[in-house]
Amino acid sequence: MYKQHTALKRELLLGRTRSEQKKAKKLKPQDEKTGRTAASRPIYWKQVSVKHREKFKQLLKVWESDPESITMVNDNVVCFAEEFAIGWGSRSTEVYICLGTDGIERAIKRLPKHLCKKFLKNERDILNSPNAVKSPRIVNYCSYDDTSNPDFGYLIVSLCEQNLEEFIKEEVERITESCAREMIRQVLEGLKALHAKEPRILHRDLKPTNILVDVKGNLLLSDFGIAYKFPKQGATTYLTSDEGETHGWVPQECIDWVGLYSDKIRKPSDAPIHFRWKEKSDIQVAGMVAFYIVTKGKHPFGPRIDQLKNLHDDNPVGLSKLSDHVVEDLLSQMLGRDLDERPYVEQALKHPFFLSFEEQMKFVQAVVNEPKFINYASEHRISLLPTDWKRVFGHEDLNTLCRGGHRSPSEYNGSRYTDCLRLIGNTCQHPDGKLRQLKKKTPATSSLEHYFLQLFPTLPLVLHQIIREDPKWKTLPALKEFFPVIDRRKRPIQTKAYTMYQIREFHNV
Ligand SMILES: Nc1ncnc2c1ncn2[C@@H]1O[C@H](COP(=O)(O)OP(=O)(O)OP(=O)(O)O)[C@@H](O)[C@H]1O
Ligand SMILES: [Mg+2]
Repeated sequence: MYKQHTALKRELLLGRTRSEQKKAKKLKPQDEKTGRTAASRPIYWKQVSVKHREKFKQLLKVWESDPESITMVNDNVVCFAEEFAIGWGSRSTEVYICLGTDGIERAIKRLPKHLCKKFLKNERDILNSPNAVKSPRIVNYCSYDDTSNPDFGYLIVSLCEQNLEEFIKEEVERITESCAREMIRQVLEGLKALHAKEPRILHRDLKPTNILVDVKGNLLLSDFGIAYKFPKQGATTYLTSDEGETHGWVPQECIDWVGLYSDKIRKPSDAPIHFRWKEKSDIQVAGMVAFYIVTKGKHPFGPRIDQLKNLHDDNPVGLSKLSDHVVEDLLSQMLGRDLDERPYVEQALKHPFFLSFEEQMKFVQAVVNEPKFINYASEHRISLLPTDWKRVFGHEDLNTLCRGGHRSPSEYNGSRYTDCLRLIGNTCQHPDGKLRQLKKKTPATSSLEHYFLQLFPTLPLVLHQIIREDPKWKTLPALKEFFPVIDRRKRPIQTKAYTMYQIREFHNV
């Protein structure tokens, strides 16, 4: 082990003495055009990336054999040659691997100078803002340089393995349902970091190639070139004349439909069109990305040729093909045209799709404990459960569930679902070793919650659908936790310092 380590170190040190390294560090990096470098070699290479490891090995070799082709950018070693490129974007963006002199692997994004001011600087500012810096779901900013080269500007960020589009193509077989759920959760957590705290940020360019996957398989939001930070608290809309960037990943309300349906060419003298970008615009595109993840590469509005038309007609054709009704329900909310129907990101993350078995049953319990709701459901004959729910349990399990309770199996009415909900509620509150007994029949059952959800998988979803339709249920104290009320217009309460005189006057003293 020790031998291996020292051999590696020797290789990485590339035969430099300490004084040589110190001397090299003092030398100034030169610009990309001349391509000459005179900076120190990394004293240690912390190998993290698997996918790009060969490229880094190659980079070190080139540095040794052809130092002239190496450029230093903010203490990062880079060779702007095709073999070190890992990504390309529109607007002539090129992304390369680079190695910091601190031995850390990074990615460097290079943009022609005339685009730096608009996109690269904006991206730097967004990545540097508190919401992005604090979140593990947003790519990490490292440094920026728009002075060392007359032609290009650079943005250096943490390195990822690939983008979501590449990941899905390569890992298609390995993406299980629960893996897809976790991926969608991570995308929404990234959005939550941007949307939920002041100063709030709109991403405005979500799409599979702008979501990166790190070496551990975690998803991170990236490419903040056209993102927008609200300059003041309480603002909810960004009025812009820019249409969204990429075909297929633009929200319904940000497309110039009049222009698309007209055969007239717009003249520069025509009044500019204004699009209203809102958080919920990001949400609709996040819904498209989520669909792309669950279907491993498909678009909810159909094949490319039909996408615009279906988006215009509020017709997410792909949804009905989903076999999981829980994710279908979430995406139908996120993808809908009506902004009021679309959830805020915090609300989306509370959808049953993201809740664990325990959380789902906690939700069911909270509903069951609201007698007003149960009466309402039975008065309106809402079918929450199968009418012969006793048969679903089976004779033996019913005996187990009723053990120690006040009622025997025969006292429960098989056609009244309120009876079933009560039985579920009582069992979860007084488990008394019942799980062991129930597991005899279904050994894979991991908990009582899991047991009930296997038998009645749509119960949390149906309850969720009924409750969210009506504000009176959502605000019941026990249910608030599952239906967060969001009002972005609200400003934080100003704490004002009062004088003793004002306090006296207020109390009429
Ligand atoms: N930190 C990174 N680690 C690994 N790959 C990256 C990284 N940043 C970017 N890439 C790759 O480079 C591609 C282009 O980068 P980016 O999306 O930032 O450029 P862009 O020109 O702004 O893109 P667009 O075409 O969306 O406008 C990404 O899709 C991704 O594949
Ligand atoms: Mg991009």
